[in-house]
Amino acid sequence: MKVNYFPLLLVLVVISLSNFAKAIVEREGKNAEELAEDVKRSQFPDGFLFGVATSSYQVEGAVHEDGRSRSNWDVFAHTKGNVNNGDTGDMADDHYHRYSEDIEIMHSLGVDAYRFSISWERVLPRGKFGDINPAGILFYNKIIDNLLIRGIEPFVTIHHHDLPQELEDTYGGWLSPLIQDDFIHLAETCFKNFGDRVKYWITINEPNLVSEMAYERGTYPPARCSPPFGNCSAGNSDVEPLIVMHHMLLAHAKAVKLYREQFQKKKGGIIGIVANTFMYEPLTDNEHDREAASRVLAFNVGWCFDPLVFGEYPPEMRHYHGNELPTFTSEEKQLVGNSTDFLGLNHYTTLYAKDCIHSSCSCFLSSCFPGADRAIRGFVSTTGIWDGVAIGDPTGVSRFFVVPRGMEEIVDYVKKRYHNKPMFITENGYSPPKSQEEQFDDLLHDIKRIEFHKAYLASLARAIRNGADVRGYFIWSLMDDFEWVNGYDVKFGLYSVDRTTMNRIPKSSAKWYRDFLHNISLNDQKPRIAFPFTSADGFLPNVEDGTAEMA
Ligand SMILES: *[C@@H]1O[C@H](CO)[C@@H](O)[C@H](O)[C@H]1NC(C)=O
Ligand SMILES: *[C@@H]1O[C@H](CO)[C@@H](O)[C@H](O)[C@H]1NC(C)=O
Ligand SMILES: *[C@@H]1O[C@H](CO)[C@@H](O)[C@H](O)[C@H]1NC(C)=O
Repeated sequence: MKVNYFPLLLVLVVISLSNFAKAIVEREGKNAEELAEDVKRSQFPDGFLFGVATSSYQVEGAVHEDGRSRSNWDVFAHTKGNVNNGDTGDMADDHYHRYSEDIEIMHSLGVDAYRFSISWERVLPRGKFGDINPAGILFYNKIIDNLLIRGIEPFVTIHHHDLPQELEDTYGGWLSPLIQDDFIHLAETCFKNFGDRVKYWITINEPNLVSEMAYERGTYPPARCSPPFGNCSAGNSDVEPLIVMHHMLLAHAKAVKLYREQFQKKKGGIIGIVANTFMYEPLTDNEHDREAASRVLAFNVGWCFDPLVFGEYPPEMRHYHGNELPTFTSEEKQLVGNSTDFLGLNHYTTLYAKDCIHSSCSCFLSSCFPGADRAIRGFVSTTGIWDGVAIGDPTGVSRFFVVPRGMEEIVDYVKKRYHNKPMFITENGYSPPKSQEEQFDDLLHDIKRIEFHKAYLASLARAIRNGADVRGYFIWSLMDDFEWVNGYDVKFGLYSVDRTTMNRIPKSSAKWYRDFLHNISLNDQKPRIAFPFTSADGFLPNVEDGTAEMA
């Protein structure tokens, strides 16, 4: 008798497949569950601001026009080997000429607010060494007025990485205390010219990231560092980041004092700062790694926020740093403490933290980060991959992984450490891994970006339900742009930008955000059809019924 083994084989295959599937689900269970979550605008408090964000050098282009001077980023990007593909911000998204179309696009999305930054080199091309450039003022006035006409709140960052190269050449930029007066002059110029209409101000974007990238790793201008962190022509990675942060905190505090004394009472409005805020989880359950996770938060987030609330650097930093950590005089403590109306969080990812006090670990497993055993890193090594398994889905930025729970965790951390000071999520966004397939999907059907935002928003909504005072959320970014050293290859946009025609092309996520903002659930919609990128405002004329052609 001939035995037919086929059904048996099939059963075996099915069993082993389902075991395999189960193993994957168990590993990724928490993230997968979160990624399936839906979220509604109605879960957020009344008056909560939803927006999109950009920054001047990343979108404006027009670098030689209307009196703008050369910036530190112009010089850096034009130096061979600094930026991926040799990309520069010369053209960027040509937002300088297309701002009005871009504001129409934002209006069609239905955002409440637009976070953008002022180009220092456009408004004060020579800083305090020269005059205000009226063309620079005019440009931002046009943006502000066009936003207000469409009911969009301007949320203005005064300084987002780019500054006149002359300030770098003359006295060393942020490494010198002299820059404080220059920054205050810029801030005052902004308050005077735009303060009658701008009600939300951010002094400086990510002082902690700038200190790290520009003065410790040496991968942002002015590219200063020392071994083992990197091989720069000059710098001191152990000390300079601390000095730069100190100058940025004092500059922030002085600008806020000026705003509060001369503008806030008359014109209303609030002013704060933005930090880069990763979340960290202990690599193992052992006590040292748990301490490392809490220490690295203090060394990154507390470094920026503690002084502005308490007037002091975190006790953790004071404990592990020697005299190289600057101190505030008692007058400076008065000035710097309580000098922010809100805390801005740029949040993208969560990493594992491993202790480097009780074991040597500047390299472990597949990751190496020279310098993890130094005080400037808090004696902590961080990684997104452990035992061959990533903490979350990888993205287009090597250190960014998709870990939605991290949003709730970081907001909860900031809430507890700073007695629930008002917060804004000033950036959150997703860029796909660089494989051709992923980039193709990103253009046509960026479902991963949609899942990312839904899951991070659901996580944020949980934090708010648990009492966190969060007042707004900005997607990075409105459109694909110049992503610093990654150039144009890393794409965070809700819109893609055709690099030849400069046309803005809505991705599926743009449509999702629009529907989210109009409180239409993705789950209520009919299945998608392909999305032709044709209509003038970027959306098809027949979307009004809410059962749109794409999700
Ligand atoms: C610095 O240069 C040395 C010698 O060329 C090299 O071995 C080392 O990997 C470099 N370090 C970094 C961080 O790039
Ligand atoms: C900040 O303000 C609070 C409440 O007014 C006060 O108790 C605290 O001492 C202030 N902190 C600093 C550093 O000025
Ligand atoms: C938003 O959705 C919720 C839940 O479906 C609903 O109760 C609420 O009325 C909606 N709000 C608007 C403005 O559509």
